[in-house]
Amino acid sequence: TAGLVIAVDGPAASGKGSVAARLGAAYGLPVLDTGLLYRAVGVAAARAGADPDDAAAAAAVAGTLDLMALDDPALRTREAGELASRVAVHPGVRAALNAAQVDFARRPGGAVLDGRDIGTVIAPWAPAKLFVTARPEVRAERRWRQLTAQGEAVPLEDVLEDIRRRDARDGGRADAPLARAADAVLLDTSEMTIDLAADAARRIVEAAR
Ligand code: C5P
Repeated sequence: TAGLVIAVDGPAASGKGSVAARLGAAYGLPVLDTGLLYRAVGVAAARAGADPDDAAAAAAVAGTLDLMALDDPALRTREAGELASRVAVHPGVRAALNAAQVDFARRPGGAVLDGRDIGTVIAPWAPAKLFVTARPEVRAERRWRQLTAQGEAVPLEDVLEDIRRRDARDGGRADAPLARAADAVLLDTSEMTIDLAADAARRIVEAAR
């Protein structure tokens, strides 16, 4: 599997993170959850008292970010997801984060990256690309379960609203919008368990590589 690069894109709570993790384990490849980078910028901006909608302020935070500190539980909160999608619209923020992602994708042994623009911008040359999606209601319930398990009490309908707002913002921005690459294979996980989705993803990769 030397050199295998797998791009996994899709909207929030589509199952792309689980699919990426399973593919990484199956092929012995390192996995980068690129959403954590944007979450880290959003959280760092908020902690610094910077306005996440201010392009210059957000880009300045992104430029000084410690990309190694991605295991902070604060990055997994509902607020972090919202902040991430707000800072992610700024081209200066994206530019500051792109090099680390491209470096990761070019690791000699191969890699799995999941995000919104891996197959379109970060690694358009990746031999295997998946676009993982699911119905908004299904994604909202999954995210609600995760948040609840983390101890974050929030009504399901608020989570659905978050998901719809994030879909609109991520798909509507000018720079690197969420989009399926022409050569990415669509995987709808609405009716799938993680095991089934992982098996389907593996078959897609096998057919593509
Ligand atoms: O995947 P996750 O929910 O952690 O991503 C948080 C936000 O970060 C997304 O809503 C999106 O705005 C942004 N993001 C992005 N490009 C990526 C990964 C995430 O714009 N490659």
